[in-house]
Formats: sequence, C-alpha cells, structure tokens
Amino acid sequence: MSGGDGPDAPAGLKEALPISAHHSPGITELGALRRRAREDPEGFWRPLVEGLYWHERAGPIFAPRPDPPYGQWLKGWTTNLCYNAVDRWIATPRRNQVAFYWEGEPGDRRAISYFELYREVNRLAATMRQLGVGVGDRVSIYLPMIPEAIVALLATVRLGAIHSVVFGGFAAQALADRINDSRSRLVVTADGGFRAGRTVELKRIVDQALAQTPSVERVLLFRRTGAPVPLEEGRDVWYDSVAPAGPVVVPPVWVDATHPSFILYTSGTTGKPKGAVHSTGGYMLWLDYTTRAVFDLHERDVFWCTADLGWVTGHSYVAYGPLLRGATSLVYEGAPTTPAPDRWWKLIEHYGVSVLYTSPTAIRSFIQLGDAWPGSHDLSSLRLLGSVGEPINPEAWLWYDERIGRKRCPIVDTWWQTETGGILISAQPGNAVTPLKPGSACFPLPGVDAAVVDEHGRPVAPGQKGLLVIRRPWPGQFIGLWGDPERYRSVYFDRFPGWYYPADFALQDRDGYYWLLGRADEVMKIAGHRLATAELEDILIMHPAVAESAVIGRSDAIKGEVPVACVILRPGYAPTPKLREELREHVRTSLGPIAVPAQLYFVARLPKTRSAKIMRRLLRDVVEERPLGDTTTLEDDTSLEEARRAYAELQREIDRERR
Ligand code: WT7
Repeated sequence: MSGGDGPDAPAGLKEALPISAHHSPGITELGALRRRAREDPEGFWRPLVEGLYWHERAGPIFAPRPDPPYGQWLKGWTTNLCYNAVDRWIATPRRNQVAFYWEGEPGDRRAISYFELYREVNRLAATMRQLGVGVGDRVSIYLPMIPEAIVALLATVRLGAIHSVVFGGFAAQALADRINDSRSRLVVTADGGFRAGRTVELKRIVDQALAQTPSVERVLLFRRTGAPVPLEEGRDVWYDSVAPAGPVVVPPVWVDATHPSFILYTSGTTGKPKGAVHSTGGYMLWLDYTTRAVFDLHERDVFWCTADLGWVTGHSYVAYGPLLRGATSLVYEGAPTTPAPDRWWKLIEHYGVSVLYTSPTAIRSFIQLGDAWPGSHDLSSLRLLGSVGEPINPEAWLWYDERIGRKRCPIVDTWWQTETGGILISAQPGNAVTPLKPGSACFPLPGVDAAVVDEHGRPVAPGQKGLLVIRRPWPGQFIGLWGDPERYRSVYFDRFPGWYYPADFALQDRDGYYWLLGRADEVMKIAGHRLATAELEDILIMHPAVAESAVIGRSDAIKGEVPVACVILRPGYAPTPKLREELREHVRTSLGPIAVPAQLYFVARLPKTRSAKIMRRLLRDVVEERPLGDTTTLEDDTSLEEARRAYAELQREIDRERR
C-alpha cells in the first residue's frame, strides 16, 4: 500500500455497485426474493457479497452448524470493515463526496469528504497502533457525538481490534463495569461534550471509572470543550500531541469474516450487562444489504439517523451502513431543543435532509412542543421517514406522517435489536410502495425467516399475540456474548432449540403484517433505551440505606416506559423525601440519567411468591392504578396493600408539591 492520494486498488476490487440503481424491490418482486432467499441462500447472497471487497475467498457463503447460532457466514473469507467503508471509495469519484455533514450543538460545522475521512482514520489508526493496539485488542470508546467518534470506530476495526463503545450518558460505575468485562487496554475519550447548553465532563467520569479498571493502560483524549482536565502521567495523552503531523497510511489488517468487529453492551434480565459480539463479514453484509433495502440511498440523498453512536442504531446506521453504501449523512452533536425546539427542523432545512430515521420518543416529545416548530420550516427535501427502538403508537405515526412528512413520505417502522446487527422487519418503500399500516413494522426482509408462536413453538392464529422467533440464521446475527458462551446459549437459543429467541411479543394480522408488542422479559425500554429492572435494583442495593428493591417499568406518554422503584430500607434509615432524592442521585451518578427512577417509594415488605420471587407484575398493576391480576401465588396479601398505600401516598405528596 502506498501513501499519496489513497490506496492502490487491490487486485480483485470490483467497482462498487452504482448507487443510483433502485435497490428496493416492489411488492411482487418481494415475494420472489423471499422465496429465493429461502430456497437458494447461496444464490440470493452471492451478488450482494460480490458488491463488497474480500481479500481472500475460501468456502461457502453460509455453512450450517449444529450449535448456536446454527451457522457460520463467510468463514475463510478475509476482509476489513474499514477498508470497505472508506478505502473502497477513494479509488472512485466518490472520493470527493461528503461522507458527513457534522454540526456541533454550539453551531460549529464541518463537512468531511470520503478522502478526508480516509486521512483521519489512518492518522488515528497510526496513533492507536503506536499506543500498542493490535489484532483482537479491545478499545473502549467514550465520546460525544463528534466526527472523531466515527473515526475511532473505523480506526479500531482497521487494525483488527475490537471496539466497545459506551454511551456518553452512562456514568462511572456503568463505564467501569463495561471496561472491566471487555478488559480494554485503551480508552478513547474527550475532555467533554455539549448537551442541552451545558458541558458533560467525560474525562472526569473516566477518571472515576478508571480507579477500578486494572486492564486500562492508556487514555487517548480528544479536545472538544476546551475545559481544563487533569492528566495522569504515563497514562493519558492528548491526541494532537501524539498523532502524526503529516499524512500516513496504515494498511488495513485483513481478518476472517468471523473475526469480532465490536462488542456492544446491552441489558438482559440480570444486573450484569451482556456484551453482544458482532462479526466482521456477516455484519458488513447485513448492513450493506439492509441500508440498501430499507433506505435505498442515492447520491442526491442526505441521510440523518439521529441515534447516538453509543447504541447499536448509531453503529449500524450512523456509521457502517451509510459508509458501506458510500452515502452522505448528517451527524448532530446535541439536544433536539437547544437553543430552541426547532433545532432539528432547522438542520433538515439547512442540509436538505432527505431521509430521517429517529425514535418514537423523539416524535412524541415534538408533538408536545407544538406543531408550530416544524410548521415554520421548509421540510420539502424529505422523501422517507423511519422509526426505530420501540413500538410506535398510531398517534405518533400519524403526526410524523402529517407534520413532518407532510403526507408525501412513506414511513418505515424498523424492528431489530442490538443482537440482530441490523434491521430484520420493515417496510421496503423503494420504487413500488409496500402499503403501510400505522404502527406496523410490515414484513420481515427477504432472508429473515420470522414467525409468531406460542410457548410450545406452535404458530399462533392471525391476530393472536405470541412470541416472535427467527427460525434460521441471518448474516448480521451476533456471534456471541463476550466471555459468556453459556449465557449466549441459554438466553437466546434454549427456549426454542434451533431458533433465535428475541424476547419480544408480536402478532401477525390477517394480511400477514407484523405488529411488535413490546418485551416479553424484565427489560424496560426507556425513551427507546434498554434497561433491565435488575440492573437498576443492583445499583440501588449498593447504597447503604437500601435493603431490597423492586423496579418495574410504568407506561409513559412520551418515553414509552419509565422506571418506578419500590424500596425497603435498612434499619436505622427513615423514609424521607431527602433520602428519596439521594437514592435517585445515586442512580444518576453510578448508572446515568436515563436510569433515574421517575418515582421511588418506600415499603416494609415486597409482594412475593411462596418461593420468594418478587411479583413485579402486581407492582406494575399498582403503579398503573388498574385492577390486580392473578394473586393466587402471592404469599402475603398485606404486602400488596402496603405497596398500594405507599404509592398512593407518594402521588398525594407529588400533587402537593406541584401546587
Ligand atoms: C428492543 C431492542 C433496534 C435498534 C435499537 C434498539 C424494541 C426495537 C422496535 C420497533 C417495536 C421495537 C424491541 C426490541 N424495538 N425496534 N420498530 N417496534 N419495538 O435496540 O436496545 O437492543 O432494543 O427494542 O423490544 O427487542 P435494543
């Protein structure tokens, strides 16, 4: 590989598919594609695989295996995710196209071409290599939404290393737990970031976390806010003081398609977060395919996925998907309402955003702010709208359609998970529109074998609620839980051997449309963010005043769900409003603001079964103020009466404070 203007095109590099061709099939074509993917997977995937660069090829595209996840994709094929996302475009006219328009919350702007991205990625990769990062090493990334965050992902996979991004909204304990589980050697962070007119002091949180993370050798720092931060000699370095001054080229490390590209922690049903591990080749194929099939991006598009890079949506549809398609995206650092509630609509107008991909929670909060904010902006550049992360209620869907899409833009409601890598169920509105139904994610993409079944795995009748299952492997499927093969098997594959179990309720209506109906386990979706009730309980019990607690998700008109905590205190502690605030603050500083209980009330006993299992279902009935469900297994009715009284008392108190 040479320096100069870019890489020499390696032998065998095919000119990437022309982006202008329509990639999204019509509804009749869709049926044929679905059949093809089922009957001849090799033939279905081959042309899509050929659109990407592989350094060496050996073996079949898919090989079934007896153990979870029941198959391997592209084993023996080597490639590099960064090469496909960035270098591949440098030898084409797309070299000079904008990869990212970026805007900071204070209003600073950057436009980064594919070539500039290539330069920046190489510069950071050279720096990381110099700090000792090699193949298979883990790099924890804790950054605000600045271009360097995307560069950090790409530089890591360029070296064959594995990134573990931790959402910038997580606090010290959550960060430390994730660093320790992955045993990262390097942490990439910044002095801070801007959010809602304030600065978030990321480095200070990193310093707290690193007091308990023995694996970390170095901390690489980007400057964003300019705030003074203490440096630890021998550990912390400013990027600008160690990065090479001139252009450098770091050859991409060719890795097997089954080599892990990243770990992303997500909540399960216990307190310990799960590190979902994604592959290189299968993940890449899935992102290339789904970005094409669902968003069908063209040269004239400006794509805006509003997710933070700290979640899988950011990984897949801010970073990898659009880059693998050679698309142009917008990235915005800050809060939607800073400095005013029309910030997003201003951004869409200014950059001519054509595809907007966001969450139901965001839509519902905009509804609350009033129609005048989007109403006063020119949103005519929009052609397609997307929704992700939680069920979208018809009211939000209709408002999105009318006030943002102005009834001209199809809406794709996309269902997927951290574990699935990319979208599995969604409308494909390309040249011939899938007839949409407000609130339905429509159909599985070709290549996704979904079904809705009962507890025994038997298909349920149309219109009946059941459990969603995916009955065969797909390329984007996660390949493990970091360091915990037993949990991987038991959580996802033991329930229905041979299938993948996502733990979501769903139904199919008479027309075959899928309706996703929320989690089937003890996982909350708070503003689209995933949090286990047990994770919050584990944090609460770390406070000296707490003897035991039970957390449940209560439905919320904007955030979908919010946590409510029911707490038993240790002897010697009084249930005061002050202590309540102290416990909420404890959650904020250990886990992060998204986890703070909306309400917290005190009881002396929790409703339990005779085998001492907390009956969260009944506590949910209490806080939703609805009739109680089946109480026959409850050991002691008075515990429930007490919870009801304590919760009602808290509501009266809140009302008094409001007045
Ligand atoms: C859970 C996964 C999807 C990437 C971001 C969230 C819920 C996700 C939808 C949707 C209804 C949805 C499910 C799923 N979910 N998309 N379109 N309709 N529910 O990823 O944090 O791993 O959460 O989000 O319950 O299991 P995640």
